[in-house]
Amino acid sequence: MGSKNKLKRFKENETFANVFQPTREELVNGVYHLKGRWKTEVFKNDNPLVIELGCGKGEYTVGLAKRYPNKNFIGIDIKGARFWRGAKTAIEEDISNAAFIRSQIELIEYIFEENEVDEIWITFPDPQIKYKRTKHRMTNLQFIERYRKVLKPKGLMHLKTDSEFMHGYTLGLLHGLGHEVLYANHNIYKLEGSPEEVTEIQTFYENQYLEKDKAITYIRFKIN
Ligand SMILES: C[S@@+](CC[C@H](N)C(=O)[O-])C[C@H]1O[C@@H](n2cnc3c(N)ncnc32)[C@H](O)[C@@H]1O
Repeated sequence: MGSKNKLKRFKENETFANVFQPTREELVNGVYHLKGRWKTEVFKNDNPLVIELGCGKGEYTVGLAKRYPNKNFIGIDIKGARFWRGAKTAIEEDISNAAFIRSQIELIEYIFEENEVDEIWITFPDPQIKYKRTKHRMTNLQFIERYRKVLKPKGLMHLKTDSEFMHGYTLGLLHGLGHEVLYANHNIYKLEGSPEEVTEIQTFYENQYLEKDKAITYIRFKIN
């Protein structure tokens, strides 16, 4: 995407009522004004809160919001020009239970209060296979701890990925730590049994992998 187009999207994001772009300072120095208040202040209801991490264009945030009008959805990504797509669609289609936050996922404990989140989706994260990149892997121990903090005790986690490595690594970690794996499928379009939303909502990255005939995997788990 050209830089002109990106700038246009950044500008538009600033005018969207469903986009929130806290600065690092706002989050880390003091208490962010929406922390603990997403349902009451933003969605104006008491419905469950579901977040999507590394949401890209926000296919899951928007797709799930349409399917589950009685839940609230927030997509988080550092790249505003990407989630602009989801935010714009939500506005155009009058989907009031979807919103987007521009932030680093590392900061979620400053964005959400303890126990504020009911479910977390992670969709096609970069697997970060190289040893030096391990700290950025979104299901490593440090990230699991962050998720535990903001999730309700019985909160669900969903990981959808094309990366066999990420799938195996995460399953190994969960088993090793005694977390509950509720469902795992290492080839969702070949092996039956995945929940509908796992096969029926497809993301931008997913479509690129599907064109190359890569297997797509899914894990649903709980952090104890
Ligand atoms: C491979 S893309 C997948 C995007 C989308 N979920 C999809 O399936 O099309 C990974 C996304 O995660 C975002 N991302 C990676 N690390 C991040 C971080 N630490 N904080 C916020 N966003 C991050 C990137 O900007 C990118 O949009």
